[in-house]
Amino acid sequence: MEIQALLSLILLSLCALGVHSATFTFTNNCPFTVWPGTLTGAGKPQLSSTGFELAPQGSSSLDAPDGWSGRLWGRSQCSTSSSGQFTCGTGDCASGQITCNGAGAVPPTSLVELTLASDGGQDFYDVSLVDGFNLPLSLTPQGGSGGCSSTSCSVNVNSVCPPELAVKGSDGSVIACKSACLAFNRPDYCCTGSFGNPQSCPPSNYSKVFKGQCPQAYSYAYDDKSSTFTCSGRPNYAITFCP
Ligand SMILES: *[C@@H]1O[C@H](CO)[C@@H](O)[C@H](O)[C@H]1NC(C)=O
Repeated sequence: MEIQALLSLILLSLCALGVHSATFTFTNNCPFTVWPGTLTGAGKPQLSSTGFELAPQGSSSLDAPDGWSGRLWGRSQCSTSSSGQFTCGTGDCASGQITCNGAGAVPPTSLVELTLASDGGQDFYDVSLVDGFNLPLSLTPQGGSGGCSSTSCSVNVNSVCPPELAVKGSDGSVIACKSACLAFNRPDYCCTGSFGNPQSCPPSNYSKVFKGQCPQAYSYAYDDKSSTFTCSGRPNYAITFCP
């Protein structure tokens, strides 16, 4: 039997057993090392890796089961201290290790949010800057049908970050950009309290800065629906840093 046919047969058998999965392929087009992090939501098991190193031009894949829901992001400016603690200048998950082990990204961090269908139906995905920005990234379905648009924040928002939102690295350059909610913790920026619904929480002058740079990405809690994308038929996904 041809190898292709054999592989198809194995895949079909796995599907019959209900062991579907989607492949996430991470690629780093940044001119510096990025450490991707993964967080599974809703108390489900973590992926086979919750964090790893990705050199410039490097690529690495992970499988996610049907029905998986969670967040993917990149960490930058990471190092290991003399006492063995791994920490990152941006996107840190505060686990002290390269793997995040169920810990999420400390904001401000650009996030990919993905919910895979449990039955080959519709996947939902978006890029979120609700908690701010650290790295440009994109998410592109591979295969699938219906919608399946790529979404991204491919601009370096750090270069236009208002000074009051900027997070600076040790060399004084802007390495991440807080959302106004994160920076000022005001109900009107965070859409909390009496601002806790879409009608009473319009975009702010700060969220408009993010939206202007990255129109496809969520810029604040009640950003319009144009930021959520769908794709059916069990696509794989490419996640690219500095697309
Ligand atoms: C946003 O508006 C506030 C006043 O409400 C002002 O202090 C601030 O400079 C403005 N920021 C930008 C980026 O326009």
